[in-house]
Amino acid sequence: MLSHIVDYLATNSMSDDSFSLRLHSPGRINIIGEHTDYTGGWVMPAAIDKGIEFYARRIEGSSLILHAVDLDKSQQLPLPVTGKTGELWVDYLAGIVEQFQQLGHEIPGLEIVFGGNVPRGSGMSSSAALEGGMAFLLNEVLAAGLSRPELARLSQRSSNEFIGVPTGIMDQFASLNGSPDGPILLNCDSLDFQPISADLPGYRWLLVNSMVTHELGSSEYPVRVAECQEALEALQKIFPDLAKLSHASQDQLEAVIDDLRPIVRKRASYVVGENIRVRQMAQALKAGDVNTVGKLLNKTHQGLRDDFQVSCEEVDLLQFLASENFRGAVAGSRIMGGGFGGCTINLVKAREVNFLKAFLKRSYREAYDKTPEFYEVNIGPGTRLI
Ligand code: GLA
Repeated sequence: MLSHIVDYLATNSMSDDSFSLRLHSPGRINIIGEHTDYTGGWVMPAAIDKGIEFYARRIEGSSLILHAVDLDKSQQLPLPVTGKTGELWVDYLAGIVEQFQQLGHEIPGLEIVFGGNVPRGSGMSSSAALEGGMAFLLNEVLAAGLSRPELARLSQRSSNEFIGVPTGIMDQFASLNGSPDGPILLNCDSLDFQPISADLPGYRWLLVNSMVTHELGSSEYPVRVAECQEALEALQKIFPDLAKLSHASQDQLEAVIDDLRPIVRKRASYVVGENIRVRQMAQALKAGDVNTVGKLLNKTHQGLRDDFQVSCEEVDLLQFLASENFRGAVAGSRIMGGGFGGCTINLVKAREVNFLKAFLKRSYREAYDKTPEFYEVNIGPGTRLI
């Protein structure tokens, strides 16, 4: 049990033993495959050892009493859920409840205490950990028998329909289905996946948080989703059997390139290229080819910065400083997650990690008067009972 949750229960005179259902729902990182999930493409995320813990107990009456330890807020949610409450953290949970209601379940009264250690707004998907954890919890309480991939689909539907953000399935899927053996190579169309080891001897995966926070809903994320849809519709005029943008080959894209708006051309060529890179990354990791792994990371950053345009100047500086100024020590670096802030993910020589941190801290402070945070996260299993 995380120590701040222990303190919270003690302060509020709640007996720790009375919470019979306990689970850990992890955040995620992503090695490669960014903005490909909602176009039916390839991704390579991993569940990490940072996450959200949930403690639940049955109570009388028809409401949920929710305690967000990290926010020091509590709220009663009347059942059944009929719509948004306007409080985002409550709505992430309420949306999952509403999905189970749609499946015909009646939700019993529950008191739920939750809190965690995923830095919010860093791109490690604390929101997916919240949704996936709640879905796992209700699946247990209701004995609903949904599989982990089904829980991921349900959580994504909640994000799309209830919260109203058109995200893909990567984050919730990684949180629920992660493997301690390594990141999962996931096909977001078929949902087939397999773990691939990302352990490269002498190297560490280091996250660097720009401390620029993002809000997917108010960012350009929905605009990118729409631009990808526009590219797909243009492709389908010539290739009617093409179901998803990520299924398009470079030749197919070439065939319609003049029919696309210049901005949509850039978006589509990024997506088609990124799907190829994910599979190249799987090969390079299997071969232990650090050089290629690093090059692929840098290429993805270029694509996200110049073609997909979801980076920001602070993150670009961190990526540049690591990949160019520290080239001997850093195999590669890129922005991770939805974009517009958050973390870079870097593959760094283990013995140079401390030098890199000191260098980035100094340079970033000089440029932006902000202190970056560093995380050497470990890859771990997906959602589990504790
Ligand atoms: C966010 C979304 C994911 C995915 C990434 C970008 O994290 O929740 O579905 O689209 O951005 O790869």
